[in-house]
Amino acid sequence: MQNASPEITLVNDTTFKIEPSDSILKASLKKGVPFCCECGGRARCSTCRFLVLEGEENLSEINSAERKLRTHIHLPENVRLACQTYVKKGEVEIKRIMNDESDYPLYLRNKLIKNENIGKELRLSLLFLDIRNFTPFVEQHLAFDVIHIIRKLFFSFEKIIEYYDGKIIETVGDGLYAAFGFDKPPKPVPSLL
Ligand code: FES
Repeated sequence: MQNASPEITLVNDTTFKIEPSDSILKASLKKGVPFCCECGGRARCSTCRFLVLEGEENLSEINSAERKLRTHIHLPENVRLACQTYVKKGEVEIKRIMNDESDYPLYLRNKLIKNENIGKELRLSLLFLDIRNFTPFVEQHLAFDVIHIIRKLFFSFEKIIEYYDGKIIETVGDGLYAAFGFDKPPKPVPSLL
């Protein structure tokens, strides 16, 4: 019994054996157990946090990455990061930040291993375009004329955004949101003065 593999129980979900060399996050995702991990397991968010219910003494020590984040967001002592925490021995019972199965679609499963962009951080320049007084403008013009003007405006911006190696992230109504600097630093914009 002394050498039995450590075991973890996720409240309202499942119990499984866990390799001491796998973080709780990694072990859960390997098993197909949903676990949130917005930064991809890099100690740069707090979405993999869990509440320790039993067996705190069986968990690994807090490492420097976790300590840094804990200090920043003031995590309580009985809350740990699944991507930085291992079960060394015995049994542990934890609760994730999810209530029931309706939350599952929000959580990444095995995508963590397959999608190398998860958790990637970039320094980008952002552009948000929004037309001032758009609602009264819409009220005073014919619907198809408004659509035409929006399309024309977006088309002009698209060309400028492309020239500066930007990408349009989203367009909604009269709003356009773009980002620059994905593959290389943004080109300098000529001064308008
Ligand atoms: S996944 Fe972001 S801190 Fe663990």
